Amino acid sequence: MKPFFSQQYPNLPPTRQVGYDGIMPGPTFMMTQGREAIVRQINQGDRASSVHLHSSFSRSPFDGWADDITEVGQYKDYYYPNRQNARTLWYHDHAVDHTAENVYFGLAGFYILKDAQEESVGLPTGQYEIPLGIMARRYNNNPADGSLWDPEVNQEVTSVYGDVIEVNGKPWPFLNVEPRKYRFRMLDLGISRTYKLYMQADQHNNQGVNFTVVGSDCGLLLRPIQTNVLTMSIAERWEVVVDFAPFAGSNVTMHNQRGVGADSDFDGTDRVMRFVVGKTVTSQQNNGAIPSPLREVPFPPNLSIANRLFEFASNGGGWHINGIGWHDVAERVLAPPKRGSIEIWELKNGGGGWSHPIHVHLVDFQVISRTGSDRSVLPYEAVALQDVVWLGPGETVRVIARFAPWPGLYMFHCHNLIHEDHEMLAAFNVTEVAG
Ligand code: C2O
Repeated sequence: MKPFFSQQYPNLPPTRQVGYDGIMPGPTFMMTQGREAIVRQINQGDRASSVHLHSSFSRSPFDGWADDITEVGQYKDYYYPNRQNARTLWYHDHAVDHTAENVYFGLAGFYILKDAQEESVGLPTGQYEIPLGIMARRYNNNPADGSLWDPEVNQEVTSVYGDVIEVNGKPWPFLNVEPRKYRFRMLDLGISRTYKLYMQADQHNNQGVNFTVVGSDCGLLLRPIQTNVLTMSIAERWEVVVDFAPFAGSNVTMHNQRGVGADSDFDGTDRVMRFVVGKTVTSQQNNGAIPSPLREVPFPPNLSIANRLFEFASNGGGWHINGIGWHDVAERVLAPPKRGSIEIWELKNGGGGWSHPIHVHLVDFQVISRTGSDRSVLPYEAVALQDVVWLGPGETVRVIARFAPWPGLYMFHCHNLIHEDHEMLAAFNVTEVAG
């Protein structure tokens, strides 16, 4: 982790950020199932860090526990089993009270795990498989010196929606593509904005372009799902296949619908990036029909032995889960699931018009119901395993998960990182069953 400067705009001075290996997003790990890894994280940044590999069932000491901090000048070696099925993971800072600041200034990157089953499906790969990490940020305009607007300096306690939409660290970028199929691994890097993405073919009367959703947080879906709007909240990953074949020689623009939850909108928050479609295809490999089903998804059987309710609510300037915050050290372990057992967790948005994308560490869950708004379980959620679910305003969502494979203390929290840093972070303790 180290500071670096990057030219974000042609007419502004370079922007200071702090990134893994001095880039944002950090280096993309390409990993293979069955091959373990140790990653040494050396902190040469601005403040204490803790690194979480989001979606890995890491053992508790390597999971980025918020209080397990590595000070500036220290390092920590993290061990990752890489025994899960293929999926799009990401690694990011998780330091107590400063996660939002650290991620917003650049401490986030992709970690892609592959396996043979996924390979056999024949989705676009190599140069046709591209991670797209979206983050909305805000720059100072007085003076307009290229510096990022700093949530901590500005004592922000609710949200930084950001008026500049960046993809892989670049504001409103374009990508040259060939007129064929691509697989995009989409990720909302945060720190507060939720998107409803859609695409239009600019020179074809803004004709809509569908996403074929093929993957979620925890790997391939049961089967591909077509959609023209993809809802993506913070930390969610949705993998989509897009076919640019009909648009050779023209542009396709990815847009964001405005008015999502309580998000603030600005001049440029209706667009995300552009695809400039060329005229020639250099390889037809994995450019065919997408098979269905995509894989056998290990959905937890409906054998829940405990149902728990967690309410995510604002609490006089802070944010709490069942009235508890991270700094309530004696009370913050809110559940003791037995190792290997299946539980249903009811996640309730405590109101006020806020959004809360809820992430549970360690497990892959299935969303089984959503009530309280005009949205039910989305078609692509219904065939997915996830580790983050968006609680839109007024919503209650039920998720089912098996609490395995390891015992130990793990966190769960709102992934609006400003909420997380202001106490909407708690823990559960996976306990060994006696005998
Ligand atoms: Cu992506 Cu607890 O984090």
